[in-house]
Amino acid sequence: GGWRLLVHESLPSTSDLLKDLAVRGEPGGLAVVARRQTAGRGQHGRSWESPPGNLYLSILLRPRESPRTLPQWGLLLAVALADTLAPLLPEPGALRLKWPNDLLIDGAKLAGILVEGGTDATGNPWLVVGIGVNLAAAPEVPGRAVTSMQAAGAEPQEPEAVARSLLASLDRWATRRHLDGFAAVRAAWLARGPSLDATLTVRGRNGEVSGRFQGLSEDGALLLGTGGRVHAVVAGEVLG
Ligand code: BTN
Repeated sequence: GGWRLLVHESLPSTSDLLKDLAVRGEPGGLAVVARRQTAGRGQHGRSWESPPGNLYLSILLRPRESPRTLPQWGLLLAVALADTLAPLLPEPGALRLKWPNDLLIDGAKLAGILVEGGTDATGNPWLVVGIGVNLAAAPEVPGRAVTSMQAAGAEPQEPEAVARSLLASLDRWATRRHLDGFAAVRAAWLARGPSLDATLTVRGRNGEVSGRFQGLSEDGALLLGTGGRVHAVVAGEVLG
């Protein structure tokens, strides 16, 4: 609880605004929504087209924990977002997660999450999590299938209302992680994630690896089985 939510008509990027505030020492618990963005950013240096009607939300967190467990926040946000969106769909089970924190329907991208972190001038860490959800529009992305909540049969949704419901879901999941640890988040992620033993190809730091999905590590790394060995992929992109 206790989120402060700022709503802007238009911003270059909600995450850029929050990062600026974060490095100047802004406390956690601040969230920013824009009705549209003119310089929205995606993962892997891509841009994120941001026409009106969709959700563009960034939140500032100040987790006091080891850098090792910070990637858990992206997975937690994906679970919190899936819990918010799935009940709005005619077929809630069609909403799936792609590691680390993409939301898909029938293999098409519905929402993406961009996690960025650093430390401010006094050495305090910050985390800015940017969330983009295709509510009404599904802007084209070259070489990739995209969808929207409305294309999947949901009623029209107010971006601000979805933002508030996501923040409430985030609070519930953060409390659960605090009480029961990451295992609870991981179980919820796996329930919407790939089937065990599904073949995945990942582009990571050391090139491409293919293997069979063996779950998530305690830190949230992707576990891939390749010929008797299990690789833990900490960062990368699942290609298929
Ligand atoms: C992805 O590539 O999957 C992540 C997309 C993240 C987009 C959101 S929209 C709100 C926030 N502001 C940005 O500039 N990017 C994120």
